[in-house]
Amino acid sequence: MAKYVVRRSGVLKGDITASGSKNAVLPLMAASLLTKEKCRINDTPELRDVEVLCCILEDIGGKIHFDKEQKSLEIETPEITAEGAAPHLAGRMRASVLVLGPLLARTGKAVVALPGGCAIGARPIDLHLKGLEAMGARVKTFQRDGFDFVEACADELTGCEIYLDFPSVGATQNLIMAAALAKGTTLIRNAAEEPEIVDLANFLNKMGARVKGAGTDNVRIDGVKSLHGTEHTVIPDRIEAGTFMVAAAISGGDLTIHNTVASHLTPITAKLRECGVDVFEGEDFIRVDARGKSLKAVNIKTLPYPGFPTDMQAQFMALLAVAKGKGNVNETVFENRFMHIDELRKMGADITYADRKATIIGTQALHGARVKATDLRAGAALVLAGLVAEGTTEVSQIYYIERGYEKFVEKMQSIGADIEYVEE
Ligand code: EPZ
Repeated sequence: MAKYVVRRSGVLKGDITASGSKNAVLPLMAASLLTKEKCRINDTPELRDVEVLCCILEDIGGKIHFDKEQKSLEIETPEITAEGAAPHLAGRMRASVLVLGPLLARTGKAVVALPGGCAIGARPIDLHLKGLEAMGARVKTFQRDGFDFVEACADELTGCEIYLDFPSVGATQNLIMAAALAKGTTLIRNAAEEPEIVDLANFLNKMGARVKGAGTDNVRIDGVKSLHGTEHTVIPDRIEAGTFMVAAAISGGDLTIHNTVASHLTPITAKLRECGVDVFEGEDFIRVDARGKSLKAVNIKTLPYPGFPTDMQAQFMALLAVAKGKGNVNETVFENRFMHIDELRKMGADITYADRKATIIGTQALHGARVKATDLRAGAALVLAGLVAEGTTEVSQIYYIERGYEKFVEKMQSIGADIEYVEE
């Protein structure tokens, strides 16, 4: 098994570029199933999750060409040759459930192996299924060869009004994709508002769909008969960019992160400024200057967008572990997203928690330790802590990090981080 070896590094400084968004490109790839024609997605990041979804789409009949030099991914599915995502693949990635809506809309049937829960929670898909049933699908779950599957069938999907009990990102995406080819109009109330929803709506509308209101809690989709191929550049990865912003802050550095959309980073910018760090928002870059600043502890409450993103919670906990004073973190989105606390404690962090609330007392005495990534953002947080801890930190289970951070080691080395990839 491989690991990252991270040593105390000086201030991080210079320029770094964010890749295309993992959480935007995965739904775009699934949406390409809605047409027989070719779709091209530019600025596609080279990530394990993208590779796995490419395999799933190929299993379903997709012809994939991923030009990694050009970062352009072409998908063409002239005919669907299988009914869904095989367990050996779907089980490896949550986002495999995103093929459910488009497959059902395209063929009238979809079967997807259910990836179990993961470190951060049970990850149910009840809201996805409830919405598809409201559109006329017959849904059942069953077990085969020890795997859990969900099957959805519908001769025709009919538009309707759907209220989401929780603004689930995945459920909103699946239902928008299913509604794109449904008969009539679908209204999704209490929809998720993330930028990745807006990017999916823009992609679908370029394919000939009629999606309005993406980015608000009310999305209207007027179904159309068919969709055509298109070309699209995926939005930048706001969580990768946010991770680099925290890297600048925690190291007292001065970093300019290119390929960013400032409005996607507002909660992170606001919280870093509250910590006492200077943040300058450019047209397509953001600069974080923490030189000579002493970090002040802040309180974080994760919420659906535009609230503070749960995907930045672990990274900010690493920051709070070395900031001055006491910070409180309330994780309201996932029921079990504090697995990184035990790992940070191994490094000397002073963190207590109960249920979904944690209290962090900052200390300058973090020390290196052998720790393990428990999800991709927790893994990134442990690397950030390792940059300022005394001595050497070894982060194992780095396959989590490689799921969502393109060329993470090279990018961090380019701004002065003392980090290396080591095969154990
Ligand atoms: C997406 O996951 C992201 N993944 C996650 O990023 C992100 O943390 C999450 O949205 C929230 O922003 C991708 O986009 C591939 P949800 P998703 O459905 O769609 C509950 C990362 O680090 N829920 O909004 O699975 C669920 O249990 C990953 O890049 C139901 O109860 O998130 C959770 O508590 C981690 N029933 C909450 O909603 C459902 O049917 C948010 O889940 C669906 C969700």
